Amino acid sequence: MEYLLEVLKIVDGGLKLNPEKVKSYAELLADKLETVGESKAALRIRQALAKSRSDHVATSALARLGKVPVDSESRISLADEEVCSTEDVNVFIEPNAEKLVNQFLSHLEAADKLVAEGVGIAPSMLMYGPPGCGKTELGRYIAASLGLPLITARTDGLISSYLGNTAKNLRTLFEYVMGKPCILFLDEFDAIAKLRDDQHELGELKRVVVSLLQNIDALDNNTILIAATNHEHLLDPAIWRRFAYKAKIDMPIMEVRRQMFHFFLGGFASQEDCHLLAAVSDGMTGADIRQVAEDSKREAILADSHSVSLEYLFPRTLQLSTPNELTPKEKLNEQISQTRQINTKIFTYKRLAKLFGVSTGKICSVLKNMEATENGFERPATHKDR
Ligand SMILES: Nc1ncnc2c1ncn2[C@@H]1O[C@H](COP(=O)(O)OP(=O)(O)OP(=O)(O)O)[C@@H](O)[C@H]1O
Ligand SMILES: [Mg+2]
Repeated sequence: MEYLLEVLKIVDGGLKLNPEKVKSYAELLADKLETVGESKAALRIRQALAKSRSDHVATSALARLGKVPVDSESRISLADEEVCSTEDVNVFIEPNAEKLVNQFLSHLEAADKLVAEGVGIAPSMLMYGPPGCGKTELGRYIAASLGLPLITARTDGLISSYLGNTAKNLRTLFEYVMGKPCILFLDEFDAIAKLRDDQHELGELKRVVVSLLQNIDALDNNTILIAATNHEHLLDPAIWRRFAYKAKIDMPIMEVRRQMFHFFLGGFASQEDCHLLAAVSDGMTGADIRQVAEDSKREAILADSHSVSLEYLFPRTLQLSTPNELTPKEKLNEQISQTRQINTKIFTYKRLAKLFGVSTGKICSVLKNMEATENGFERPATHKDR
């Protein structure tokens, strides 16, 4: 495509929050379009640029970004700042967690009303649960929903090898976020708590935890604090108590997995296929589903196709979903049997044979054996088993 380079530069500028880059490449694009006779398109771009100049940017989340403090020794940034948009962030969680998150958001949106009535707001939420299930993504979603910049603490910047510097860094970061409307996100929260394991660091850690508590207590209601961890048991109980909302973001249930397959596969798979994949993917995290979906889309595109094949997706999904302690043969048998149980009409012997890449005879014998085992009968071994 012509002008792809300019478009890519504009996208890059937008993602890196670099308005100067966006503007200069948009101007270049308008000039190029003009020279090839596309004056209407060029005019539209120039109008958009003129509008953005006159818009009062101070109201936008972008303008609230400042210069993030750095660690005085390593010069590493203490946090990353990001402006998230609801169009770019999609998060799928089970209904109870979703209800809690929505409640948190609606309380924050109604902050003025609550404060006017003398009921304080509690703008802090701790998300916990297994890795790859969407905690970081949910942090971005909260920021996008509230239209506030997300300031994610960087542990490599915060934790200093110099005595006393970690606590100092924490104070600097908290002071920085208190100076503006934003969300402070302490992602991978356990990284600080985990230091407790190290006996040599015990004294320093106590100071860090105390400093963290003091900083959290000193936060005003304008600063929203969210934290995420997948080692909640490592958190100091005193820290745990500081969070008004605690949301467990667990392994996705079947309906959530269906939504994720549908979202990540886009138009590449039918609704029916997404239902089937959801049914056989118990034990897969959101990150696993995204990876499998993206791999299969890549395969489809390379094969000049606009749909992914169930034959490609199925074995990969099953591989990630079933427990590992089984031998490969047991695993295969288990998977065949489980898939058959989902729907005997859809998963005929022929379809199963195709999906698992084995003969129909093999499917038949596996299912008969599994049935016999479930009914308490062991089939005597034949020479074929050896
Ligand atoms: N519930 C979900 N909804 C949407 N996308 C998800 C979900 N869970 C995982 N993903 C996808 O997987 C990626 C990894 O998820 P994420 O980083 O949010 O997990 P996490 O819970 O923060 O993991 P960790 O505890 O390891 O930090 C995300 O970028 C997203 O694309
Ligand atoms: Mg995370």
